[in-house]
Amino acid sequence: MGERMGKAPKKTYKIAVLPGDGTGPEVLTEGLKVLNAAARTYDFSLDLTEFDFGGERYLRTGEILPEGAADELKKFDAIYLGAIGHPQVKPGILEKGILLKLRFELDQYINLRPVRLYPGVETPLSHKGPDHIDYVVVRENTGGLYTGAGGASLKGTENEVAVQSMVYNRFQVERCLRYAFEYTRMFGKKARGKGSKNTLGLVGKTNVLTYVFDLWERTFHEIGEADYPDVEREYYHVDATCMWMVKSPEWFDVLVTGNMFGDIITDLGAITQGGMGIAAGGNINPQGVSMFEPIGGSAPKYTGQNVINPLASVCAGAMMLETLGETEAAARIEDAVKEVTGSKLKSMSAGHMGYSTSEVGDLVADLV
Ligand code: IPM
Ligand code: MN
Repeated sequence: MGERMGKAPKKTYKIAVLPGDGTGPEVLTEGLKVLNAAARTYDFSLDLTEFDFGGERYLRTGEILPEGAADELKKFDAIYLGAIGHPQVKPGILEKGILLKLRFELDQYINLRPVRLYPGVETPLSHKGPDHIDYVVVRENTGGLYTGAGGASLKGTENEVAVQSMVYNRFQVERCLRYAFEYTRMFGKKARGKGSKNTLGLVGKTNVLTYVFDLWERTFHEIGEADYPDVEREYYHVDATCMWMVKSPEWFDVLVTGNMFGDIITDLGAITQGGMGIAAGGNINPQGVSMFEPIGGSAPKYTGQNVINPLASVCAGAMMLETLGETEAAARIEDAVKEVTGSKLKSMSAGHMGYSTSEVGDLVADLV
């Protein structure tokens, strides 16, 4: 009794755990190992509830996502996801039916994807190091080409027509841009002591997509000028962005873009930061429940071999803690990951790390 007096009750976070398919469960186990180590050090606890959404469940029951799944998930503080995608299920079914459905139904309208090269990690960009590859992509996550608006007619004939529309309204564009401006103000290069300005770059294609990116560009400058004059604004076409991501990534601070361009450029970004084994992302609803995942997918051929790199999942876990407000614990995990990449791992690739999946988890957990 006496011992407890005056001590604030321990903070507990309710986390929905979705291991998913392929190597998802393995990497998530290591992520949870690290998160639990951080919980012990920083005196909070995680109340975990597992859901079996994924390919195995679909093949067994024929159901992709149970009725009411999104509502159930809304009761949690955050969602921690392994990977979605099963070799025996036609591509698209699980991705659309689980991953995209949850992003949409939980209105996770931001996909936050840091592109950060950690010490000791090999990058295909020669002459570039951790000081050069250190930026963040804010990808709009619920609109654009992903809304599924479109259709086909005369299917199977020579005259078949297919249309898929890039749909954005002002509301979607504005809330995404506002998030990006706020993020830049808080975590841009000046805010992090790494530069003299906080810069937000809009990535678009105003020279061809003259309706959609006109909306983005006008909104960008309008709200930037009115509400974020301290944030430097830049604009890049998406094709040129790809070029600069390879040639001069150090130019970038925070980039904001639509859903499809964001999907594409973040795979390019991921490979420059050492590949899918290390790239993490957060599907964020700033007012609701967010979902954190390694961006690499289920890598089915490595399933069950204890060779997959769990660091992307570990980093996704750190992003989750940051969003929950456990910023010190999150920073400690990121530092531990840097320590491990800098002094231990031989490579980020599955099977070439010099350690097994679970050993990599142990190495990081021991440091937090
Ligand atoms: C991603 C993935 C998904 C996307 C797929 C699996 C639907 O590529 O998270 O980047 O296109 O958003
Ligand atoms: Mn992608």
